Amino acid sequence: MNHFDYIDGRLHAEGVALDDIAAHVGTPFYCYSTATLARHYTVFAGALAKAGLDATVCFALKANPNIAVVRTLAELGAGADVVSEGELRQALAAGVPPGRIVFSGVGKTRRELEFAVAKGIMQINVESEPELHALSEIAAARGVRMPIALRVNPDVDAGTHAKITTGKKENKFGIEWTRAHEVYRKANALPGIEVVGVACHIGSQLTEVEPFRQAFLRVRDLVAMLRADGIGIRRLDLGGGLGVPYEYETPPHPDLYAEAIRATLGDLGCRIVLEPGRLLVGNAGIMVSRVIYVKEGATRTFVIVDAAMNDLMRPALYDAHHAIEPVLQPAPDAVPVAVDVVGPVCETGDTFARQRLLPPLRAGDLIAFRTAGAYGAAMSSTYNSRPLIPEILVKDKAYAVVRARPSYEEMLALESLPDWFG
Ligand code: LLP
Repeated sequence: MNHFDYIDGRLHAEGVALDDIAAHVGTPFYCYSTATLARHYTVFAGALAKAGLDATVCFALKANPNIAVVRTLAELGAGADVVSEGELRQALAAGVPPGRIVFSGVGKTRRELEFAVAKGIMQINVESEPELHALSEIAAARGVRMPIALRVNPDVDAGTHAKITTGKKENKFGIEWTRAHEVYRKANALPGIEVVGVACHIGSQLTEVEPFRQAFLRVRDLVAMLRADGIGIRRLDLGGGLGVPYEYETPPHPDLYAEAIRATLGDLGCRIVLEPGRLLVGNAGIMVSRVIYVKEGATRTFVIVDAAMNDLMRPALYDAHHAIEPVLQPAPDAVPVAVDVVGPVCETGDTFARQRLLPPLRAGDLIAFRTAGAYGAAMSSTYNSRPLIPEILVKDKAYAVVRARPSYEEMLALESLPDWFG
């Protein structure tokens, strides 16, 4: 469920008409809805509570690190899952307490580890032995033991897109399942390390519960082994990954997911940490763009819009589907036509939709790309020297620009000519 609906023929975000925002901030832009963020958080956290789980929901900032979005979720009780010093700084700037932040990622630098240890965050999810040793050294030098989980790779097939599956043994993530016990023993003996948990994340945009269940059962076996060995495990970080509907998908309701956690791990007496990203923010965001031209090609019609693959990369990168709707509601008798919706970037990959049935569109019309709140702005770039597009947060009848569009002067100011050019 989301709060982007037509009211009197104009697509609104909650109580704000999107064409009004377009008139003020220009296009393209991202727009997020506070009520939708709140709704998704409440349904997810509510499902965990109903299942009787003692759980902390750490929003995966990689899906949408805008500090206003993070703050909205933090005020509802969310912590943060971060994967870089940049995201850690965003979580802190948004007001997430350090005691609710986990730091994941396969290649944390020493500088990043030092920053995280200095900030006293809840937990670092360690992904390799070299990282374990580096972290122990860093923490011991500060006279502390850093709480850690080892991210284990449970070798299950998440059945999702190859580029976003992470839990198979050939993926770069985590510590191989078969070696986990041995690495835990080593970790437990290191001076700067306090082993507190097990972490796993098997992939993103999962639309079935079964792969999760398989991974959780493996985690359960590991906890039993570790406890038998005297290694105290009191937290289980089960990652993110629950999918959202983009087109025809029917991902399981969070109640079923929570029930799978309860059934497999609920009796272990552990605090459960979850790292959902897409589920919390995906449907809470749209991208609005304006049609520049409609071009009749030899075999098809191209709707050329002012957003491009650099602004929303998912269609080009994963062949992802984003529903497209005109911002002004089409007449009920408008006959849809098949068009290709493309951006201005000089690559064929800069195509948002091929042969999509849409009501007739003309130059100047506004369109909205739905389900763009996750991995939309977060993955954008300035390819073709296009400025990053602004982000807007709506709350009821109010809206605010929560990331400004940089000016060309600001973009150029980061570059310089070496003095050998005279
Ligand atoms: N935790 C870890 C360790 C992760 O690697 C990820 C996502 C998450 C949590 C959050 O997963 P989520 O709940 O959002 O599925 N750019 C891709 C998605 C990449 C996901 C990477 N890891 C896309 O646009 O579909």
